[in-house]
Amino acid sequence: MNGKSAASLANVFIFYPPDLDKSQMAPSLAVINEPEECKELVSGSVVPQFYVQGTRGAVSIAIEDGTSLYGTGEVNGPLLRNGKNITLWNFGNFRYEINEGKNLYQSHPWVLAVREDGSAFGVIFDTTWQAELDLSNGIRFFADGPPFRVIIIDRESPQEVTKGLAQLIGTMSLPPKWALGFQQCRFSYSSDSRVREIADEFRKRKIPCDVIWVDIDFMDGYRVFTSDPERFPDPKATNKYLHEKGFKAVWTSDPGVKVDPDYWVYKQGTEKDFWVKTSSGEEYHGNVWPGLCAFPDFTRPEVILWWAGLVEGFLSWDIDGVWIDMNEPDIVPFDTMPADNRHLGGDGLPEGPHLQHHNVYGMLVARATQEGMMKANPEKRPFVLTRANFLGGHRHAATWTGDNESKWEHLRMSIPMSLNIGLSGQPFNGPDIGGFWGEASPELFAHWIAIGALFPFSRAHTAGGESDQEPWAFGEEVEMVSRTAIERRYRLLPYIYTLFYEAAQIGMPVMRPVFFVDPANLSLRSEDQAFILGADMLVVPKWAEGPQLPTGIWQSISLVGEDSVNDPYQPNLLIRGGSIIPLGKVIQNTTEESLDPLTLLVCLDENGKAEGVLYEDAGDGFSYLQGEYLMTTYTAEKEGDKVIVKIAAEKGDMKRPKRTVRIQVVMSEGVVELIGNEANKVIGGVDLDGYST
Ligand code: NOJ
Repeated sequence: MNGKSAASLANVFIFYPPDLDKSQMAPSLAVINEPEECKELVSGSVVPQFYVQGTRGAVSIAIEDGTSLYGTGEVNGPLLRNGKNITLWNFGNFRYEINEGKNLYQSHPWVLAVREDGSAFGVIFDTTWQAELDLSNGIRFFADGPPFRVIIIDRESPQEVTKGLAQLIGTMSLPPKWALGFQQCRFSYSSDSRVREIADEFRKRKIPCDVIWVDIDFMDGYRVFTSDPERFPDPKATNKYLHEKGFKAVWTSDPGVKVDPDYWVYKQGTEKDFWVKTSSGEEYHGNVWPGLCAFPDFTRPEVILWWAGLVEGFLSWDIDGVWIDMNEPDIVPFDTMPADNRHLGGDGLPEGPHLQHHNVYGMLVARATQEGMMKANPEKRPFVLTRANFLGGHRHAATWTGDNESKWEHLRMSIPMSLNIGLSGQPFNGPDIGGFWGEASPELFAHWIAIGALFPFSRAHTAGGESDQEPWAFGEEVEMVSRTAIERRYRLLPYIYTLFYEAAQIGMPVMRPVFFVDPANLSLRSEDQAFILGADMLVVPKWAEGPQLPTGIWQSISLVGEDSVNDPYQPNLLIRGGSIIPLGKVIQNTTEESLDPLTLLVCLDENGKAEGVLYEDAGDGFSYLQGEYLMTTYTAEKEGDKVIVKIAAEKGDMKRPKRTVRIQVVMSEGVVELIGNEANKVIGGVDLDGYST
């Protein structure tokens, strides 16, 4: 057998089909850390069978009874993927309805399989070509194009497999802290003055928010990188206004460039001969918002460089983040470019048809955009949001789940969708809160924002022509629900930021399935209403019907005075026994000081112990890579009637801020609090006041 295990990566096996000529193999766009040394396959591992089905290369992997399948990227339907069938062909799948929703905006040729005993394996099908993944009888994968290799990670738990995936495809880079705040968008805030009004409303109503998004109507005739002289006469001034109020600004871009001989971007691309060509060598044109467009051939390194330069220019408007849309590429209505269009490739990437490069087109646009942001502001962490992507594309951009609909089914589905994207290497994702298409009822919006405020990426958005979907657009009650939900997020930000640091270090998802608590507990395998944030916070939506929850100690908590158990909208939040969760203050945006006081929420395990980590740094920039950060491990232990909370370990060169620390020990009878500080390793001993814990 051709299985090889990389010595440097425990239990990673690479399989090459017999007819694959390795010297002709295209460099992988998913796997960036090629296993260096190989040893022979150990027995008992999963072995893929290669065969040919019609004109397609095929692979089949048998699974034992009781194996649960996950991952497979951005997909609709439940968390558990057994029996599902998807097409890997990025598609602008408006409302997830076209082709029965079998292909959405992104493709991830990746399956995570959890065996009955809780051990797990994962499979990368290392090809970018159009493919099908069929999970109705074991795992089967069929792809166009030349033979491709299969990589299997076989480890003791799904967590270890997830880390293994990140070892191969890399981790996301740490985002700027502001990108973890709440964000508001619509298609479109139609003028500079409307953008200002929205910003003012947030501040006036004291609803925390970090980012206002500017969608396509700022453009001049939908020409990318231009602005409409009437409605957005001075984008820099728009951004200055936002910045003064503590907001960041994200503006959108599309890869389709209007065919217009007088438009500078089109002129440049034409002079340089950078457009994708048809099979007969003509410049390919397809319809997007501005009418007929030409499309840069992002498989070419010189095109990436050119586009990065355009993004660099775009950032001279003092834009903080760039949104990339329609990059499947989406040809309106409901199409993409012909599969036999030609891409020239370069830098090892082979020349080939669109059928080969389609699935990575969006990822390459994201790469070019990220590079442009780095050129413009090398001292800042780039924030890019992309609609289309491919396995590994989390290295370049965060993602949202495209055009969902304002309906209950899509609110419910947003949880398994985000969980599976997280299990496919992309921790930074979330849906349009409130739903994009259609009108959300006040009730639906309230439920959506209550849960949406807890997703890794948290942004409200709505389609053109629909009613407003800002937190105050549904009346007073929903405004209050929204404020509470968003304030909860801001209190949790130190914890969420620490989770993002973990994601950037080792690739653990921020939002995780409940079965991660106990992978051998089969009753948790299908749970996709409740989820966990990190390892220590369980989130149970109020609309969850008969959720299967993990056993052990989990105590409900209140973050902003809400009654987590009985509140009609806010999900019940429960802290895991044995953990310490760091909390900040309610702030209006991340430019404000959050960690004085720092709150440590402590929940003891059955042995009277708890532990938790707080990661802090400047919130932007790269000094953390030179050691300018502080990572503190806090422990708590019951000694007699007291809980002693200590700094057990610390890493990093950042000076510990002088601050007040509020220790809150959560017990079934209530919360006991002590105010301390970090002047000494022992922060304080919380008197349990006779509570039993
Ligand atoms: C389609 C995107 O999915 C949506 O979010 C956006 O508002 C519109 N394009 C307009 O840019």
